[in-house]
Amino acid sequence: MKTRNFLLPVATAGILAITLSACGGGGGGTTGGNDAASQGLDGRGPITYVQGKDNSNVVRPLIEKWNAAHPNEKVTFKEQTDQADQQHDDLVQHFQAKDPGYDVASVDVVWTAEFAAKGWLQPLKDKMALDTSALLKPTVEAASYKGTLFAAPESSDGGILYYRKDLVPTPPKTWDEMMSMCSVAKAHNIGCYSGQFKKYEGLTVNASEAINSAGGAVLDKDGKPSLNTPEAKAGLENLAKAYADGSIPKEAITFQEEESRQAFQDGKLLFLRNWPYVYNLATTEGSSKVKNVLGMTALPGKAGPGASSLGGHSAGISVYSKNKATAVDFLKFLTTEETQKFFATQGSLAPVIGKLYDDKDLVAKLPYLPVLKTSIENAVPRPVTPYYPAVTKAIQENAYSAIKGEKTVDAALSDMQKSIESASAGQ
Ligand code: GLC
Repeated sequence: MKTRNFLLPVATAGILAITLSACGGGGGGTTGGNDAASQGLDGRGPITYVQGKDNSNVVRPLIEKWNAAHPNEKVTFKEQTDQADQQHDDLVQHFQAKDPGYDVASVDVVWTAEFAAKGWLQPLKDKMALDTSALLKPTVEAASYKGTLFAAPESSDGGILYYRKDLVPTPPKTWDEMMSMCSVAKAHNIGCYSGQFKKYEGLTVNASEAINSAGGAVLDKDGKPSLNTPEAKAGLENLAKAYADGSIPKEAITFQEEESRQAFQDGKLLFLRNWPYVYNLATTEGSSKVKNVLGMTALPGKAGPGASSLGGHSAGISVYSKNKATAVDFLKFLTTEETQKFFATQGSLAPVIGKLYDDKDLVAKLPYLPVLKTSIENAVPRPVTPYYPAVTKAIQENAYSAIKGEKTVDAALSDMQKSIESASAGQ
């Protein structure tokens, strides 16, 4: 028996997880039989927190604060690279080795199902339970698997369209409007638009956004791949055409988040799709050329705003940790209002506490918060399945070939459809 779960974007009701077919196998670790999950629950002592590169420099000061208050339960920061796929593979390697030294790990929303199904994350229930009532629903859903919470939502992420206020006084609302403004970029001898188009998780994010924003969907409302539609075609075609005609500069095919941020900050792009962390760095880094001309708006869609892919990270406790009582306290510390405000003001990270988006002081400091809230509330989750690595590979590889013009958009979408079908069947 195989169990396949997809997470469905539902227009009004947020998110609904469904099981497509039930026939055993896949979800072993979530139900019983996982001895490691019953051990170390009362353990207190030093722990390690593992996370990708601290681009926004918020983790170190936060850990210093924790350590000053918890001299016998100090946290050591293990910093990974800034690349999502490498972070994933590093965690997988350490979980497979049952490493007790990776106590708490930052888990991308798209890894929850895989890690939970493998039995690597401590279920946050009973004495490990967390109060999630103040947290944004999509962040809690994204940290849960089959109805159990497996991690503490830490920061959310919604795509933002950054633009040059000095060159484009009124930002575009639709993709076509944005493309029509590329003449402005040309006149200033800079690139028009970039997102993240290297073949990695970020391309899954960008390709899904293109498809969703054009009225299509990677999965239909029953959780089945639905890429053979005119809307999905129009979405992927937007990227392929823009790349072919130079509206997306050629070098963007190598960009992850950081390279694209750098290009925008260096004044080489008119529009950039990226996450909220860019605001802080683009407005504070000495070398930034866009400090005073940075505009932020919703991603462009077909007839109005588009739909972001839901991003973000949660902090999960490894079942192999020996100090889980300390670890769960650290998770609570990450989700306090104070910590969340600190993440927002110091790193322009998206809070997981709903009411902070309406906090007057915070909105005065971070005027883009309403745009971000809308982006997150309307964000579309990527497929939720323990077989996500194969699903994302199917999206990335085909989107990449279509954008580079190595495959027609039709062929890429039909291959994507087939590969997601077999990937989600665990084949
Ligand atoms: C950001 C998002 C994450 C996404 C990744 C892709 O870190 O928070 O959800 O998978 O970017 O690079």
